[in-house]
Amino acid sequence: MDKIWHPFTQHALSNPEIEIERADGAYLYAKDGRKILDGISSWWVNTHGHCHPGIVKAVQAQAGKLEQVIFAGFTHAPAEELAEKLLRVTGNHFQHVFYSDSGSTAVEVALKMAIGYWRHTGNPRKNVVAIEGGYHGDTFGGMSAGGRGVFSDVYKDFLFDVMHLSFDGMEQSFEKIAARGDVAALILEPLVLAAGGMKFYSAETLKKLSEICKRHDILLIADEVMTGFGRTGTMFACEQANIWPDIICLSKGLTGGFLPMGATLCTGKIYDAFYQKDRSKMFFHSSSYTGNALACAAAVASLKIWESEPVMVGIASISAVQRGAMQRFSKRPDVENVRSLGTILALDVIATPAESRGKQSSSKDGLLRRDAPRNDGYLAPVAPKLYDFFLLHNVLLRPLGNTVYILPPYCITEEELENVYDIIDLALDHLRDGREQQAA
Ligand SMILES: Cc1ncc(COP(=O)(O)O)c(C=O)c1O
Repeated sequence: MDKIWHPFTQHALSNPEIEIERADGAYLYAKDGRKILDGISSWWVNTHGHCHPGIVKAVQAQAGKLEQVIFAGFTHAPAEELAEKLLRVTGNHFQHVFYSDSGSTAVEVALKMAIGYWRHTGNPRKNVVAIEGGYHGDTFGGMSAGGRGVFSDVYKDFLFDVMHLSFDGMEQSFEKIAARGDVAALILEPLVLAAGGMKFYSAETLKKLSEICKRHDILLIADEVMTGFGRTGTMFACEQANIWPDIICLSKGLTGGFLPMGATLCTGKIYDAFYQKDRSKMFFHSSSYTGNALACAAAVASLKIWESEPVMVGIASISAVQRGAMQRFSKRPDVENVRSLGTILALDVIATPAESRGKQSSSKDGLLRRDAPRNDGYLAPVAPKLYDFFLLHNVLLRPLGNTVYILPPYCITEEELENVYDIIDLALDHLRDGREQQAA
């Protein structure tokens, strides 16, 4: 019996969990002696490699001084320093930072800021728009904004209504909806729908969506929980479209992968809507660990690594290697949509009819509604087969349905990446041989 209920795990089908004793750089060291290459940065959080000494030292020093203090009515140096650094690294576009504990809470805070902004400015716009296939976390706000599908299907009757733009032609359908004048906010993952299958869209589209927001006075929320901190080749994905949103959600790479933390940054106009001599208009959001001193110290140390080490150079070379690998995989007849953006490389395994679980289709107006057909591609049976095969070869890759992707820590070497490519090839060959045997 499992004492621990693990996330995104079907315990009735899964293998026992692997116990990790320590980690260093790009590797996880298991109790059974295995050395596993972390090809997905431990769910996309690890930036500089595991246990970077700069962050270890900072957290140790902070732990001896102040570990935690209530963040209402109190503050501390690491939180102040972090806020300053975050405002600077986002080009001084934002004026305020709100801390929370995860990517999901960073999104909840952003949605509550946006809805509260309209309420407090006397024009209670209620509609939130998002992109179909997006993922914004597993809390109810995050699930509501996220694409409808297997992740939230059980809870669908409890989610609030969000208008979802179909992925193809999202600008055109947004233009029409925006003209109605009742949209409070557009929330999106800039350039990459990550958990939705590493689907990329162009910086031009992102720019157009931002322009529509500006034209119709709609708040833009950029969920950079995954894309932030260098993932797409620039520090933030929004930079590639030359835009900044009204609100940005950060987490994952914020502490370099050390401690759970979220940060939601907003412009002055959002903050000002709550800034009134009326206590009922304060921002009613907190969690016990808001502004945790250890997490802030880790995040400050991580940002100092960005300042003192050639992290961007590493990202550029990983990006070049990943781009180069596209050719190799594009030649395979059993994969399609080989794509790369910054440090991410992704490809889709072509499913046989028996393996495919149906694709989602949009309605005529380009919108997908709550009752739209489920997109349960995440459950494609090739995913656990490939996952097991990769682990057998000491590489941690966790396919999203039939999408295999690599999202490595920035300390990974070209040789290590080549090794991952070899194992992906081997896994695909193994899959093909299995299918052929079954067909024979
Ligand atoms: C874009 C995006 N937003 C929000 C989240 C939720 O973050 P967390 O798992 O830290 O709650 C994720 C997690 O993968 C994400 O990719």
